[in-house]
Amino acid sequence: MGDKVELRIVRADEEEEFLRLIHYAFGLDKDYSEWTEIRCRRRPEPETMEHYGYFVDGRMASTCALLPLRFRSRGSVVDVGGISEVSTPPEFRRRGYVADMLSNFLAILEERNMYVSALWPFSREFYSRYGWATCAESSRVTLTTENLKKSLRGFKSTARFEPAKLDDVDELDEAHRDWGSTYNLSVLRDLEGWRTQVFCGWKRNPYVYLARDAGDRVIGHVAYTVQDRDDWDRDLTVTDISYVDMTAYREILSFLANHDSQINRFHFAISMSDPLFDWIPEGKVERRAGIMVRVSDVRKSLERLDVPADLKGSMILSVSDNFMPANSGSVAIEVHGGRILTQPTESSPDVEMDVKGYTQLYTGYRSADDLHRLGLLDDHRGTREFLGTLLPPMKTYMPEHF
Ligand SMILES: CC(C)(COP(=O)(O)OP(=O)(O)OC[C@H]1O[C@@H](n2cnc3c(N)ncnc32)[C@H](O)[C@@H]1OP(=O)(O)O)[C@@H](O)C(=O)NCCC(=O)NCCS
Repeated sequence: MGDKVELRIVRADEEEEFLRLIHYAFGLDKDYSEWTEIRCRRRPEPETMEHYGYFVDGRMASTCALLPLRFRSRGSVVDVGGISEVSTPPEFRRRGYVADMLSNFLAILEERNMYVSALWPFSREFYSRYGWATCAESSRVTLTTENLKKSLRGFKSTARFEPAKLDDVDELDEAHRDWGSTYNLSVLRDLEGWRTQVFCGWKRNPYVYLARDAGDRVIGHVAYTVQDRDDWDRDLTVTDISYVDMTAYREILSFLANHDSQINRFHFAISMSDPLFDWIPEGKVERRAGIMVRVSDVRKSLERLDVPADLKGSMILSVSDNFMPANSGSVAIEVHGGRILTQPTESSPDVEMDVKGYTQLYTGYRSADDLHRLGLLDDHRGTREFLGTLLPPMKTYMPEHF
């Protein structure tokens, strides 16, 4: 490139320039003041979501932001760099700035011990060149009021519902943790997460209700918005939900069904393994690709895993990573006593794959057998069964937007 480049957190006096670039990239249809007002409600503060500028010869030529997140990962918690606000103004586009920024950004994340990063892509093809892979799916389900009521026939509600406030977060969080523990990659929310993901909306704030059982324990919550199609023709969209068990889920559905005098259609964004599919076979279902994830340090990702104490074995795994050469290479894996030890090695690998395949395996989105069947994993010595035991497939789901 030949120019002096620097990637760093923007200073307070550069914040407006950062926002103007983001506005141009994501809010082109609105004027700047309207857009900043909406954004203020929905976006985490810069203290929580760090704003980075990629400066070329002193000019802010690209932007990105870091939202530190905590994902559930195979029974433990992993620090994840949530990447957002990736942009380049049109006068600087297609000069390779974003590619270079992302490579530097991954190095910054590594220094901060975030060897896993995640993002919502504008184009899957764009980010997959740099090693991010789709690691979750969701489905958008549309039900008529009749569909919903039919699924609840015979269910007798006993829960008590009340409007929820940000002050209720501690109780809400307990139910959300129960719900989230069903899914790998689900987020452990902090207060700012509850504020931005649940209580604030882009156009207007959702309604948020919590449910209590007879013992006054919070057993779940639901957040939703309502859209008018026509006179008395309305849609309700569930924007966030949690429930501690299937009874609590039915309680929430029954609460929603009590809107039958006001609502004609209900929209849910849910995981592909949601029980709603068993209860309500009718509805319209749209399958959607979810978040993209990237592992930037294969060795650390393995060493921090908890594995069953009786699992023993060894193998050589080779992962290729063109975008982060330091993450490429062969690793000797030794498993015993509930731990995984790794060492770089020159020996020939048992199993080879690229970083995207490895990330899908690591997150549990695809099994070793599936990757092999798809031609994304080479198994030279029949070792993929052991790898599959080490990293078995999991139900993945990550609905938070950032
Ligand atoms: C998408 C965007 C960030 C790309 O920025 P950029 O600085 O032009 O990107 P780069 O020059 O580093 O491009 C890297 C590669 O992606 C390609 N690319 C650039 N824009 C692309 C696009 N819109 N679609 C597909 N590929 C694209 C480039 O050709 C280049 O490929 P090459 O290395 O084979 O030549 C920029 O167009 C933008 O700000 N868009 C609006 C906001 C947005 O969508 N951000 C992404 C949010 S997830």
